[in-house]
Amino acid sequence: PQVNFSHANSRVTAVLPTGESVVILLYGATVISWKNRFGMEKLWLSDAAKLDGSKAVRGGIPLVFPVFGTAPDHAPTSKLPQHGFARNSRWEFLGKSSSESAGPSDTSVKLDFGLSSNTLEDGVKSQWPYTFSIIYSVTLTPESLSTSIVITNDGAEPIDFQVLMHTYLRVNDISQIQVTGLEDSEYVDKVDAAKTKSQSGAVAITGETDRVYTPAKGPSNAVAVAEEGETIFTVVRDNLKDVVVWNPWTEKAAGMGDFEPKDGFKKMICIEAGSVNGWVSLDPGDAFEGAQTISD
Ligand code: BG6
Repeated sequence: PQVNFSHANSRVTAVLPTGESVVILLYGATVISWKNRFGMEKLWLSDAAKLDGSKAVRGGIPLVFPVFGTAPDHAPTSKLPQHGFARNSRWEFLGKSSSESAGPSDTSVKLDFGLSSNTLEDGVKSQWPYTFSIIYSVTLTPESLSTSIVITNDGAEPIDFQVLMHTYLRVNDISQIQVTGLEDSEYVDKVDAAKTKSQSGAVAITGETDRVYTPAKGPSNAVAVAEEGETIFTVVRDNLKDVVVWNPWTEKAAGMGDFEPKDGFKKMICIEAGSVNGWVSLDPGDAFEGAQTISD
């Protein structure tokens, strides 16, 4: 049995012999679907998400780079739109590789995407005139979905950036969700004047939530999402120190034209692995590598 693969209509689709599947748009290298072997969708995607390249995708896994939010006071990124340009750029598909670790029932596939200063649109280049290349890999196994990024500074000056995998996880009922792995960690509360606070216990979502955690236990310690006490996702990070927890709740969802259905906030939680508190500084010739693995 082989990986069933297609590359057409500006998207890449792969289905494992065991039935799990993933769909990635070249626009933003945005993962828009991840299904388990029973065909059950694991990611949340808005019914009104634009998939035609006219706007960043509302749902799935948009990639935030090189700025998280906007940074008007940070000169190198001050001209960039919210969350940067990676999620609005067309990426190149570089190829696929599949591997079997313990026979066909354990086949996995890795799909590679590229974006560099050579392929960026001119308008973006003038807003962020650095020389760089990025390889973004999406790996599907029967047990997990991983996304990893390698960012290389090919220029002659240092590059400051932020990066974030803005994952919209699908849940059944937000009121039953608890997020663990963030205990005793500091976070910036973006819905309370960006105050720094300390988390005690598990996180429950009871209103608009927009927090940047820097987990005390470090990246390899999983952040877990449980619903009615049962773990439905675990997220393990590699070299991504921060975790954003976001749910727009009623008013914010109502204000987003591409967020449908309006009560869809009850069906999603964003657990976003990244490095967004402060800047990563990359010297000429150096590369940064970061990854997340989501298991269900
Ligand atoms: C989150 C931010 O990562 O993304 C939020 O913490 C933001 O502040 C959200 O509202 C969605 O951003 P956008 O640009 O996709 O609407």
